[in-house]
Amino acid sequence: MSDPNQTVRDWLGALTLEQMAEAFAGDLLPPPGLVDQMPKMPPEAWQLVTVGKSGVRAMREAVDFTARCMQEFNSLNPIQTPRVLDFGTGWGRIARCFLRWTPETHITGSDVRSESFQTSRELMPTLTFMKNDVSPPLDLASGSMDIITAYSVFSHLSESSASRWIEEFARVLSPGGIAFITTRPRLHLEACKEEAEKNKGAMKQYAKIFEDYDKALAAYDNGEFVYSPLETAEELTGDFYGEAIVPRSFIEKNWSAQFVLQDWITTYSKVAIQPLIVLQKR
Ligand SMILES: C[S@@+](CC[C@H](N)C(=O)[O-])C[C@H]1O[C@@H](n2cnc3c(N)ncnc32)[C@H](O)[C@@H]1O
Repeated sequence: MSDPNQTVRDWLGALTLEQMAEAFAGDLLPPPGLVDQMPKMPPEAWQLVTVGKSGVRAMREAVDFTARCMQEFNSLNPIQTPRVLDFGTGWGRIARCFLRWTPETHITGSDVRSESFQTSRELMPTLTFMKNDVSPPLDLASGSMDIITAYSVFSHLSESSASRWIEEFARVLSPGGIAFITTRPRLHLEACKEEAEKNKGAMKQYAKIFEDYDKALAAYDNGEFVYSPLETAEELTGDFYGEAIVPRSFIEKNWSAQFVLQDWITTYSKVAIQPLIVLQKR
């Protein structure tokens, strides 16, 4: 018999990570009393267009990422129930995973797209969602968050946009707070280059992004921020949004006034391919 006092957090906390991905994808049902409290998934087409995968595959990536964020956070910061901002939240795929680790009142998602903001609010009415402007500030007090996640967001922002948001993250984080961001690996440029030469296969849509791949690879190896603009949606314009690949040495050199680069993790997931970058506020 199920416990009438059990919360979503209790239930998720007792699952394996794989079961948790299945639960969010709707493949594993919670006890009847919790069904209405579980976040809902958006239509499959919306999942595919925003994160390139759907259902349990999309959620496995999010669960692997957030589980590793919490493992890193717990080793670096004593706060037990962190206040979390998921920046560039999309449909709240990452934000919802934190329901396992912290109260729902501590979870906020923010996105520049009105559609993302409205969708997330409808799918998860008990979490807080905000729409932010293209540039800072966020409508959040200084020091009001302990964790900021940005999954597959800095893999798109231009150099000036990324740098402005890094400054803003430093303002919004509490002392010792941690930003967990991702970028694309060097391998992405290599795969795109190969694709541009053959022009077929799984990476076809990326083949034409950079005009000169040898130049892009040389810039990456020289520690430069590699960026190419793209127009993907009405509110995502090429002046700040495109394809970005940020080398480790760029972060060490340019963001070290605000953050200590604590880790650069490539092995946190069998499905997620973007390196997880752990930045602790100084
Ligand atoms: C590839 S999606 C990833 C969504 C989500 N993080 C996930 O992994 O499911 C990138 C997201 O970043 C958002 N975004 C891009 N630029 C942004 C900005 N300046 N401020 C807030 N969100 C932004 C986009 O609207 C989009 O929802």
